Amino acid sequence: MTKETDWEERYQEEDTPWDKGEPAPGLIDWLNKQKLAPETRVLVPGCGRGHDASAWAKAGFETTGIDLSYLALSYARQKYESVPNLAFFPGDFLEEKPRETYDLIFEHTLYCAINPVRRDEYAQALDHWLKPGGHFLAIHFVFPLSEEGPPFGASKDEIIKRFESTFELIEDWKPRHFEGRQDEERMFLWKRK
Ligand SMILES: C[S@@+](CC[C@H](N)C(=O)[O-])C[C@H]1O[C@@H](n2cnc3c(N)ncnc32)[C@H](O)[C@@H]1O
Repeated sequence: MTKETDWEERYQEEDTPWDKGEPAPGLIDWLNKQKLAPETRVLVPGCGRGHDASAWAKAGFETTGIDLSYLALSYARQKYESVPNLAFFPGDFLEEKPRETYDLIFEHTLYCAINPVRRDEYAQALDHWLKPGGHFLAIHFVFPLSEEGPPFGASKDEIIKRFESTFELIEDWKPRHFEGRQDEERMFLWKRK
């Protein structure tokens, strides 16, 4: 059985190799060409130290980041305190029933970080947190499913099968990526049916 990750401990020990100290290059490229309505409200689950969430807020969108780790959130609040329209809250994306729903969910290395046996719960959580007709934009790690993780792999086919009953796939592509992640990242843009 896969051992659950203690995320707070990972941040305490600074054992956070996923954190590159800046927003994902693929997200920056996408934000530079997006045509979303300015009032789009964005949720970034598993936001970690908040770099991607800050990019959304800097692009003009009211943005909320949630994460299990208080330490990661405290770093995010300090580093990005001058960025308007940006809030960070502790929260469990899989277990909490949200008080409000969002127009867009952006995720980056959360799906691959959770225990693979919880992937159906992840898909259900999207339904809880996202408005009908809302968008789901994701940067997933794509490599064969591994027993050891995180990150746990996922294939493009597995990802598409997981979400296609409730989402329409608008586009998927290989994004510009962090050094060392060539051939590991794929971006998906979905619209909730
Ligand atoms: C691999 S890290 C990625 C962090 C960030 N997205 C990034 O790319 O830097 C996974 C993050 O998801 C958070 N996390 C894991 N399970 C979660 C859950 N159920 N709800 C909210 N956050 C979760 C962890 O605390 C961690 O910050």
